[in-house]
Order: sequence, then structure tokens, then C-alpha cells
Amino acid sequence: MCGIVGYIGSKQAPSILMEGLSKLEYRGYDSAGIAVHDGTKINLLKAQGKLVNLAKMLENNQIQGKAGIGHTRWATHGAPSDINSHPHMSEDRMIAVVHNGIIENYMEIKEELSAKGYRFVSETDTETVAHLMDYYYKQGHGFLESVFMVLERIEGAYALGIICKDYPDTLIAARKNCPLVIGKGQGENFIASDIPAILHRTREVYFLNDNEVAVIKKDSIDIFDRDKNKVDRDIFHVNWDIDAAEKGGYDHFMLKEINEQPKIVQDVLSIRMKEDEDEINLEGISLRKDDLKNIDRIYIVACGTAYHAGLVGKYLIERIARIPVVADVASEFRYKDPILDERTLLIVVSQSGETADTLEALRIAKRNKARVLAIVNAVGSSIAREADDVFYILAGPEISVASTKAFTAQVVAMELICLHISMETGKMTKAEFSAARAELNSLPGRISEVIQKCGEESKLAEKYINSKNVFYIGRGLDYLISMEGSLKLKEIAYLHSEAYAAGELKHGPIAMIEDSTLVIAMLTQEELFEKTLSNIKEVKARGAKVIAIALNGNDSIKSQVDDVIYVPRSGWMTAPIIANVTTQLFAYYVAKALGTDIDQPRNLAKSVTVE
Ligand code: M6R
Repeated sequence: MCGIVGYIGSKQAPSILMEGLSKLEYRGYDSAGIAVHDGTKINLLKAQGKLVNLAKMLENNQIQGKAGIGHTRWATHGAPSDINSHPHMSEDRMIAVVHNGIIENYMEIKEELSAKGYRFVSETDTETVAHLMDYYYKQGHGFLESVFMVLERIEGAYALGIICKDYPDTLIAARKNCPLVIGKGQGENFIASDIPAILHRTREVYFLNDNEVAVIKKDSIDIFDRDKNKVDRDIFHVNWDIDAAEKGGYDHFMLKEINEQPKIVQDVLSIRMKEDEDEINLEGISLRKDDLKNIDRIYIVACGTAYHAGLVGKYLIERIARIPVVADVASEFRYKDPILDERTLLIVVSQSGETADTLEALRIAKRNKARVLAIVNAVGSSIAREADDVFYILAGPEISVASTKAFTAQVVAMELICLHISMETGKMTKAEFSAARAELNSLPGRISEVIQKCGEESKLAEKYINSKNVFYIGRGLDYLISMEGSLKLKEIAYLHSEAYAAGELKHGPIAMIEDSTLVIAMLTQEELFEKTLSNIKEVKARGAKVIAIALNGNDSIKSQVDDVIYVPRSGWMTAPIIANVTTQLFAYYVAKALGTDIDQPRNLAKSVTVE
């Protein structure tokens, strides 16, 4: 949610800032801007719309300078417009600020500053920071001291990059509840919301913690805590491949990421399961028999797609390990005074590791002495750093706003954790474990098969492109996967779609079914097949067109529906993961046929760092 980049060194900043912003555009793309210090003054360029608009502006306005900050915005306060774009500056251009997050008390500060004669031009909360900085600075406090004073005053969440006209050699960064990394180069340094923005330039990064401030010059990086004490920070070496954050010949990141799934699953399985061992290797994660004895309540909390993975986790843990689990969306969990104590295990799931609500759920749990296990993709993210234990899904950078590979890896992580708990608590025999392991081991090959035969999804996408309402239905795990399939279609194709437990249709939603309503029925759970089939008949009788997603060999379904997409036959635990790849591809091809912006769908951002 909003991308920040900053540079200070001996090279020209504008192109480096633009390069960084191009890698961060997935975080927000309704406007972008840069502020560059040319040694004597700060020059500003900003433009509504995608980064390409700013790039065109830059071609016509060659600004120069060796220090600067850049921003790509996802609007919170004020509509997308040139004037609301970041960076924001004080009136005499003394201070320039880029910000990710929300300053909650900005109205109060704005009123105070307005009374002092400050003139606000935008509707944003961020402009308050620029003027407040200017106010303290003009009172005679230095650049750094003014930053500390501003941080004392503002409430909310922020990652900030700030430059000052009087300090051409200094860039200051600060963070609270929003991600920020500092990249260390040779005679040059960087800041960024996310590693891909600076990976072309350096692999050595420092993660800034909450309430810390960094003073960055071309040859030095000094980090201070909120009490202004210098802190030592270990450098983190980024070892993933730059290619992982590039499209690599695919039309879209989403398609590339769908294609990466077999390998990702293979990799995580090979680390976590050994052929000759009857256990999952959870490497120090405290979920052994003795730890589990001390747990009497499990919550799984997440948002969006990660929540859907959490629902699968709940289903599996309850069904196999026979432990009750409450799954909740983080934005609800955090405000309902959940029952938490030292006997609670909270499992949070997050691709980015930075989602504001999920992070807050984790913090509430920790304040109440619960144990927190995080299932996370982004290494070194806030959630990963604050959790007691981390299960990294190792899916590599996910750039497409619509999550695909992270979901698959999160569900696999859930399955592994469930098997582990079941073995530790004696709810699973060795023979059952071996069967489950074999099933999991067959996943990469079966997902590959679906991806290779994507012609059916593409053909049906064209056929049903004019659907106005789409229902995804299923029972058991199929229902949970339906939710994810439906979300994908909404996100990238902007088609109205709903997911329903198939048996729930007749309790209301069936009233929506009319001629040509599209129903996508998931049928991978063989024990529930007949039940879902009855529901298919009910919607067919009311004029719906039905696509069934069924297991290979299920010939009987053909005569009951309009179209069938067959997926490789697999056990009940893994078949829905395979079927989900089908729904990813279907959503992708519908969106492609409709010509939407697949990787950067409207109104969305990849990492939701505000409430
Ligand atoms: O980074 P997180 O996994 O915490 O993000 C949670 C959701 O914002 C995310 O899954 C969102 O729903 C995606 N756009 C889904 O494709």
C-alpha cells in the first residue's frame, strides 16, 4: 500500500528512483512522484495515474540531483490527483516528504498549523508531516531533531522518507507499522518499502524496526531508537534471484506466478518432509507434543486470500487433528476482545508479512501472552520478525496483486502443520501419515498437469465472458476453495461473483439464479459429490449455466452440466489445491479477454499496510 523509494549517492537520483518505483508499482498505482535535491534546491515532479505518466513528465522536465525520494500511491486521504500525489512539500520547498500509512490525528495538527498561517494545498494526511517538519525546523531545531519532534506528535502508521533543502547530503527515514528497508551500497545508500525496488542496486539491507529513525548519507547509515540512542543492526543479505521479481517472458506476473507453483510446492515439501521419516520437519517451531499439551485454543487469523488458506487450515486441523480452531479475518478479530492467554496458539497467515490488521492481531495476542506462529512469505517482514515462530512458505516475491502461488504454498503449509500436529498428538497412524505424504508428493506433478492443459479454462473464459453474476459453489474443502476462486474473479475481472456452501443456496441466494447465471461447481470431494450434484440440479432447473470442476474419470457429471474442467484425480486433502489452480487460470483468462489490468487491478494494492 504505497511504495516508497529513496536514494543518496554520486549518481543521478531520478532514474534510480524511477527504476525503484517501477518495481513497487504493485503497491499502489494511482499516482506517482519524485523529489530530487540538486545541491541547492529540491525539485518536484508528480503525476496522477500510472508511473508511465510520471516517466513522460520526466522526459520533458529533466531534473537532476544526487539525492531524492519517490512514491507510488494508493489513495487513502483524497482522491487520486496530481495535487494529492506524493512527495508533499512545505510551502517554501524546504522539506519534502513521502509517506506510506495513515496519520490518524492529521486533522487536529492541520487545524493548529492552519491557525499559524500554514496553507494546505492537498487533501492528504501526509502534507501535515511536511508542514509540521517545516514548523519545528524553522523554530531552530535541526533536521534530525525536527523529525523526532514530528514523530512525537503524529499518531498512526507510517514509513517516511524526508529530505531537507539545507541538507543536500542527508536522507532521513522513519517507520512505525509500515515496512521500510535500507539498502547499503558502495558510496550510495537507498530506502524502499520492499526489497525488489533496490535489488538491482544492492543485496545488503537493514530492516528498520518500529519507532526507529535512520539518518542516511552516501557513506553512512545511522539508526536511532525513539530515545535517540544509536542502535546496532545486523545486515541482511538478500539471496533470492532478481529474476524472481521479473516477468521472465510471461505476459503477466500472475501467469508467471501460477506457473511457478509446482516448483514452489516441490521446494517446500523437500525441505519439510523426508522420504524415510515419519514426521514433518518444522525446524524449531514449538509445536511438539509437550508444547501442544499447553495449548487449549487455536485461532487462525488473516485477511483476504491468506484468510482462505486459514479456513483450509481450520478444516484440516479440526477434521484430522480433532482440535477445535477458530478462524477469523484480522480486521474483525482485533476488535472483538478475543479470548487469549498463555494457553492460546495464534496462527497468522500473510504473504507480505506487513498486513496492518494481521500484524495488530499478532500484537494483541502477544500482549496477552499467547504464542504466535506466522505462516509468511516475505522474509524479514514485520510479522515474521514479531512472531514467536515462523513457517516461511518460500514462494519468492509475489508481484501480481492477485495472490496465487502464495495461496497454494500457504495451504501446503497448513497441511504440513496439520499432519505434524496430528502425529504429535497421536491422531494419525504412521500408515495414514505415509499415505498423506504420498498424496502431497504427487501435488507438483498434478498442478503441472493442470497448467499445461490450460486450454479449457481459456476457452470457457471466452464463452462465459458476458456473465453478470457468477456463483462458486462446493461443499467441505471445495466450498473454501470456491471462496478463493470467487475472490480471484472479482479482483482481476471485476465480475460480480459470490461463493456459497452448495447446501446453503436454497436458503436465499438461489433467488438470484436466472437464465444464464454462471455457476461454477467444485466437485473434488467424492464423499460429498452426490450432495453437490443435487444442488447443481437445483440451479440448472432455474436456468443457470454450470461449469463443473471435477476429477478425471468422473464421466457421469458431463450430462448434468454445460461444461466440465477435469483435474487430475487426487485425495480429498490435495484435490482442492489442484482444482484451485483451475479457478486461478479461469479468472486470469476472463480478465485477459476483458482486457483488464491483470497485475494491477483497479482500487487494489498488494500490501495492505493501513486498516
Ligand atoms: O500479504 P497478506 O497475505 O497478508 O495479504 C492479505 C490480503 O490482502 C491478500 O491476500 C489479498 O486478498 C490479495 N489481493 C488476494 O489476491
